[in-house]
Amino acid sequence: MARLPDEFIQRLREANDIVELFRSYADVKKRGRTYVCCCPFHSEKTPSCTIYPENQSFYCFGCGVGGDAINFVRKMDNVGYMDAVQILAQRSGLQMPARSPDEQRTADLRRHCLEINREAANFYYLQLVKGQDKRGLAYFSSRKLSPATIKKYGLGFAPDDWHALHYHLRSKGYTDDEMVAAGVCRRSEKGAVYDYFRNRVMFPIVDLKGSVIAFGGRVLDDSKPKYLNTNDTPVFNKGRNLFSLNFAKNASSTTFILAEGYMDVISINQAGFDNVVATLGTAITPEQARLIAQYAKEVVISYDSDGAGQAATQRALNHFADVGLPARILKMEGAKDPDEYIKKFGADRFRLLIEHADDANLFQLTRCKEGLDIETELGKTEYLRRVVRVLAGIANPLQREVYISRIARETEVKAETLQIQVDGAVRAAKRSADRIQFRAIEAQSLQRDELNPEAQTYPKESKAEKEILSYLLHYPEDCEMVLQLVSPSLFKTEFHRRIYEAICEICSREEHFTLSMLHEAFSSEEVSRISGIIAGFQETPVNRDTLEECANVLREAQNRIIPSAEMSDDDLRRLLASKQKK
Ligand code: CTP
Ligand code: MN
Repeated sequence: MARLPDEFIQRLREANDIVELFRSYADVKKRGRTYVCCCPFHSEKTPSCTIYPENQSFYCFGCGVGGDAINFVRKMDNVGYMDAVQILAQRSGLQMPARSPDEQRTADLRRHCLEINREAANFYYLQLVKGQDKRGLAYFSSRKLSPATIKKYGLGFAPDDWHALHYHLRSKGYTDDEMVAAGVCRRSEKGAVYDYFRNRVMFPIVDLKGSVIAFGGRVLDDSKPKYLNTNDTPVFNKGRNLFSLNFAKNASSTTFILAEGYMDVISINQAGFDNVVATLGTAITPEQARLIAQYAKEVVISYDSDGAGQAATQRALNHFADVGLPARILKMEGAKDPDEYIKKFGADRFRLLIEHADDANLFQLTRCKEGLDIETELGKTEYLRRVVRVLAGIANPLQREVYISRIARETEVKAETLQIQVDGAVRAAKRSADRIQFRAIEAQSLQRDELNPEAQTYPKESKAEKEILSYLLHYPEDCEMVLQLVSPSLFKTEFHRRIYEAICEICSREEHFTLSMLHEAFSSEEVSRISGIIAGFQETPVNRDTLEECANVLREAQNRIIPSAEMSDDDLRRLLASKQKK
C-alpha cells in the first residue's frame, strides 16, 4: 500500500484535536496538563483514560486502548486505518490526497464486495418472497417469524441451484473474481465458479454503517452443516462484527442481551427487544466484548441451556470481566434456548427472566454444584470448598456477606464458620500477592502477551527496550544520538525492534515525528501498546542516564550467551515499584 503523505497526516492531526474528539463521546475533565475521562472503550465508573493534548494522544490505564485521533476512530467506529483517515478528513473538511493505483484497486475491490453483498441480499430476499420455491418462506413461517420481521432483517432464500446468484450477478456486470472475493461464490479446483449458499434460508449480516457485509445460511432440515457462514473477505471479519448490532446500537436500553444464534436474536427482537446481538458462528472474541462494552452498560448472557452453552457462558464472562462490563446470566428452565422459551412462555415471561437474571457470582456459585451430590457429606464438603474460593473472589464485602448467609442456610453450616473460611481464603489471596505468586502471575501475563511474545524470555531486556523507546518517543529530535548509542540489532524482542526501526526511519526523513505516522506499519492494537509505552513514562520521563543504563543492559545481554529467564530480586522490586506508580 502506498503511503499517505506525512504532510497530509500532519494536517489531519491538526484539524482533529484529540480532546475535542473525546468530548463528543465522554465527559472530559481537565487535570493539570492533561485531561481525564471515563474510557469510552470499556465501561467504568472512575476515569482511567488520560488524554495528552501535548502530543495529541490518549491512553486508558484500565483497558490498554490508546493512540492518536486515528486510532480513536479505528477503535470507536470499528474500521480500518484508511476508513479512519477518511472519516477524520470528512469530519474536518479536508480533501483526501489522490490515491496510488494500488490503493485505488483495493478501494474498488472493497466497494465491489459491498455492492455484491447488497445485490445478493436483494436477490435472496426476492427469491424468498417472490420466488417459485416457497420452502424458504414456509420454513420461516414454521418458525413463527412475521413478514415484518423477515423484512426488517432482510432474510432470504438461496435457491437449490449452483448458479442462481452467479448468473444474476453476472447479468449485473460483476466478474467471477469479484463474486469469489465477496464470498458469495466459490471456485472449484477445476476453475468453475458456483454459488456458495444453496438451498438455505439466508441471514444477512449488516455492519454499523448499514452495509451488508456477509451472510449466514441455514439448512431447511436437519442436514449438516446446519449453518454456512461467509469466510473473512476484504469487507468482513467474523471476530470483529456482531449480528444485529446495527439495531442494538440504537436500542433505548443500555442492557444488551447476548444470544447464541441468529434465530434466537431474531426471535428475541421480534418479541420486542432491540438490544440483542450474537456472535457470527464463533465463540465471543475480546474484540467483540469490547464492542459490546462500547454500547452497553451491562450485558445479559442468554446462551443455550445445554452444557456447551454453559461453558461458553463462562468464557464470555471472562471476556466481559476483562473489559469491565458487568454481566448477568439468564437462567432458562423448560426451554433449550431463548427462541423456544419465547414461543412457549411468551415475551413477558422472557422480560421477567432478563430482569431477574443472576449476577455472575451467583452463576459461578451454582456451577460449584456441578457433578456433586450435596446431600452426601463428601459432596457437600467439596461444594463448600469450591464455594469458599468463589466467595473469596467477590470484592464487595456486603455482597459476600449476603451469599455467605444464603449458602450457610442451604448447606446447614453455621454462617460464622463459613465466614471464617472465606476470611481465611481472602487473606490467603492477599498474601498471594507475595513474591512467588507475583512471579507466577507475571509470567502468566507475559505469556498472554501476544504482541510481544519474546518479552517473557527477556523480561529485563524488554523493559530496557521499553525505556529506550519511551525516551525516543518523547525526544524524537534526539534520534541520531540514540541510534549512536543503541543499534537496532541490540534489541532482543522483535516487536520493540520493529517500533525502534520504524521511529528511526521516520525521524531520518521527517522533521517532526508523531504517533500518527506509525499506522501504516502497525495494527491498531500495536498502536495502543505504543501509546501505553509513552503514557507509562509520562510523569517521570526517562532521562539520559537511564537511557545509557538501558543501552548497557542490552549490550550486556548481547555478550551473554544464556538469556536471563530468571529475574533478579532487584528487577522484581523495580518492576513492582513501576507497577505501583501507575
Ligand atoms: N453455527 C454455525 N455453524 C454451525 C452451527 C452453528 O456457524 N454448523 C452458529 C450460528 O451462528 C448459529 C449459532 O452458532 O446461529 C448457534 O447455533 P444453533 O443454536 O445450533 O443455531 P440457531 O441459530 O439457534 O438455530 P436453530 O434455532 O434453528 O437451531
Ligand atoms: Mn439455538
